[in-house]
Amino acid sequence: MSLRIGDDAPNFTAQTTLGVIDFHQWLGDTWGIIYSHPADFTPVCTTELGRTAQLKDEFSKRDTKVVAVSTDDLEAHKGWINDINETQNTKVEFPIIADTDKNVATLYNMIHPNFSTTATVRSVYFINPAKKIQAIITYPASTGRNFTEILRVLDSLQLTAGHSVATPVDWEVGQDVIISPSVKQEDVEVKFPKGHRVIKPYLRYTPQPNK
Ligand code: BEZ
Repeated sequence: MSLRIGDDAPNFTAQTTLGVIDFHQWLGDTWGIIYSHPADFTPVCTTELGRTAQLKDEFSKRDTKVVAVSTDDLEAHKGWINDINETQNTKVEFPIIADTDKNVATLYNMIHPNFSTTATVRSVYFINPAKKIQAIITYPASTGRNFTEILRVLDSLQLTAGHSVATPVDWEVGQDVIISPSVKQEDVEVKFPKGHRVIKPYLRYTPQPNK
């Protein structure tokens, strides 16, 4: 089954490098990211997991737990973590799922059979505290993900979850945001006391409300 934005994030129980987890219980009330890797001991994946570990504080600041998925086994994961720590000068402290039966990869549609019938692609699912999927990114094995973009998406999702705004092209934290078209012009001043600019009736900017 293919998952879409707004769908419930499927729950599962899995073996991880930090013990068995029930995914929903492990997430608790936080935001979550679950992302897949084609295989252990591969170069691009090694750099991605290293970056995730290096960004631990950034994910914590955003109240977000990260879990990686690879279909290799626990023993391989543990050996690979040593390599990641050594080569990426970091310490992997987040769990990596040993998805040997491909249960999680199947639930999250991480195997794209026309690409590979066995290895997962590079999927990223962003999950909100209500356990709903809020964004999905998918790359092929040959393209490492951009973790600046992953944090940027998280910032946008968390901002727009709490305010009637959307983030424009190439937006970064601190820049002006777009007032949602659903906000009536007569309500704008009350809703956005920091001010606003009307470029067109449908294109209205306001300073980032939560900064
Ligand atoms: C990698 O992580 O480097 C990789 C994995 C599978 C295919 C190509 C690259």
